[in-house]
Amino acid sequence: MQILDMNMINFRNLDDEHLEFDRRFNLFLGKNGQGKTSILEAIYFTMTGKSFRTSKNKEMIKYGYHKMGSFVNYEDKIALKSLSVKIDEKKKFYSYNKKNVKYGEFLGKINVISFIPEDIELIIGSPSVRRSFFDYEIAQADPEYYLYLKSFSKLLKFRNKYLKDRNTRDPIFEIYNLEFIKYASLVIKKRIEYVKNISRLLSLNYRKLFDGEKELSLVYKSFLGEMRSPTVEEIEGKIKKSYEKVRERELRYGYSLIGPQRDDFLFLLSGKEAKAYSSQGEKKSIVFALKISEIDMIIKEKKETPIFIIDDISSYFDSIRKENILKYFQRREIQLFISSTSDLDIDARRFHIDRGGISGE
Ligand SMILES: Nc1ncnc2c1ncn2[C@@H]1O[C@H](COP(=O)(O)OP(=O)(O)OP(=O)(O)O)[C@@H](O)[C@H]1O
Ligand SMILES: [Mg+2]
Repeated sequence: MQILDMNMINFRNLDDEHLEFDRRFNLFLGKNGQGKTSILEAIYFTMTGKSFRTSKNKEMIKYGYHKMGSFVNYEDKIALKSLSVKIDEKKKFYSYNKKNVKYGEFLGKINVISFIPEDIELIIGSPSVRRSFFDYEIAQADPEYYLYLKSFSKLLKFRNKYLKDRNTRDPIFEIYNLEFIKYASLVIKKRIEYVKNISRLLSLNYRKLFDGEKELSLVYKSFLGEMRSPTVEEIEGKIKKSYEKVRERELRYGYSLIGPQRDDFLFLLSGKEAKAYSSQGEKKSIVFALKISEIDMIIKEKKETPIFIIDDISSYFDSIRKENILKYFQRREIQLFISSTSDLDIDARRFHIDRGGISGE
């Protein structure tokens, strides 16, 4: 997939512009505070409806304004298409091929992977950071997962409400609970599959790009303990048993004590947990290897190449790692949007950013 051009209005400090992109490499150059991250964020936002650095829509609207919007034309294997997102202070509006659509329909139309300095949180942050990351990534390649997760979250709320009201003798609770367990199992099954598939790629990519001596692995830490390739029924059985064990305690606490809403994902570098043992550079490289591995996950699921965004490459890696990364992208047919404070040794369309103004070469 490739984005051909973009229009934006009132996006952070950026001037309202129409930009035409290269089908391969696009490089955004500028000093600190000029708008490099903002332009990459605008691109990511138009494709996903989300920012990669904030969950607050309002932050993306230019100071002093109340509305913001952006529009891209892109091409997949089939045709030329378009997406746009608009925000006013309270609501977001999505459109696909100029027709308004709901988020569920918008999600995953273009697949995009971003790598930004804050991504280090994936290693050092709390389990909820990893959960939301993997939930989003699995959902963008697998629309079924999005639906499962939506139902699961809704049922979790119902379940917690009944527990809070100490109302679990109500026959309706039993119905909700069975549905809850069903969707919890489906979510867990998909997570297990995803981790299994991406793990192979992770190790391979880490070795190829960064360190041939080390082995990188990802472990899905579910409340059910380790499971290799369970069926949904087996997971359901295990969940039912686990809930029976905590039944009394759940009633005392008044909310769900166990479940996929509390799962975690661990990165291990040569068997040691990265969060505790890996160096800064290694942590960044682990996250990068993860993002690179997603490329192949998306190609496998969607039969389309995703778009890749790298913010501030110079602040991340030493010159050897940087060179390896650029070489990697030169070998692959992927459209890349990259920003840097200093020029890079690649054949790219260059955009210079100065106080929000963008000029192409
Ligand atoms: N909603 C907004 N409206 C207007 N300006 C904003 C808004 N949000 C952030 N800014 C400003 O936009 C400027 C550009 O920010 P951005 O993060 O894009 O810079 P950058 O080029 O990536 O810098 P660095 O190299 O330091 O990462 C900053 O001065 C920031 O304070
Ligand atoms: Mg920046």
